[in-house]
Amino acid sequence: MKFFIDTANLSQIQEAHDLGILDGVTTNPSLMAKEGIKGEAAIMKHYETICEMVEGDVSAEVLSTDFASIVEEGKKLAAIHPNIVVKVPMIKDGVKAIKWFTENGIRTNCTLVFSAGQAILAAKAGAAYVSPFIGRIDDSNWDGIELIAQIAQIYSIQGFKTEVLAASIRTPLHIVKCAENGADVCTCPLDSILGLLKHPLTDIGLAKFLEDAKKM
Ligand code: E4P
Repeated sequence: MKFFIDTANLSQIQEAHDLGILDGVTTNPSLMAKEGIKGEAAIMKHYETICEMVEGDVSAEVLSTDFASIVEEGKKLAAIHPNIVVKVPMIKDGVKAIKWFTENGIRTNCTLVFSAGQAILAAKAGAAYVSPFIGRIDDSNWDGIELIAQIAQIYSIQGFKTEVLAASIRTPLHIVKCAENGADVCTCPLDSILGLLKHPLTDIGLAKFLEDAKKM
């Protein structure tokens, strides 16, 4: 399973990259706004900076919702760097645009996916990635991890090449469960990635080893 970081914060991207386990980055308009990135030129520059920091796919989301504008915006984003993956929402014009991008050699990440039916449509249109939002599904009293397993099973049975990119990760356990249930990629906040490191027995064991080492 690949690890992407879900942020537009450059120091968090650098920290995850320095850990040596980072395979890519996902962003969304909320994450970009959180970093104070405003205006087309600044947005383009920020994506370029991220692409230069990380060797891997970087999802850049379109802000348009009609076919022609999604295509125009996606072409501009894709031209920033070969690692840019155009993130397109799961709406009717989004599916049409994903198909257009697929036929024109531009890779896409179909975002805001909350059902297996939506994931089938994204795969049929040729999306490189599909992003089920598992944390938001959990928030709505449903089981996000079950959806990951269902989509992974459908894609495997049907031979779809689209990668299952588990998004809206909230905890380290989400990451473990995604790995267990067939996600190809997990995009996570830095805290959830670092949370994987933690176990009290590791801390207790290390303290004891270091204490005993003084007697060596
Ligand atoms: C996916 O690519 C989205 O950017 C993200 O994972 C959404 O997460 P949230 O539900 O924590 O906002």
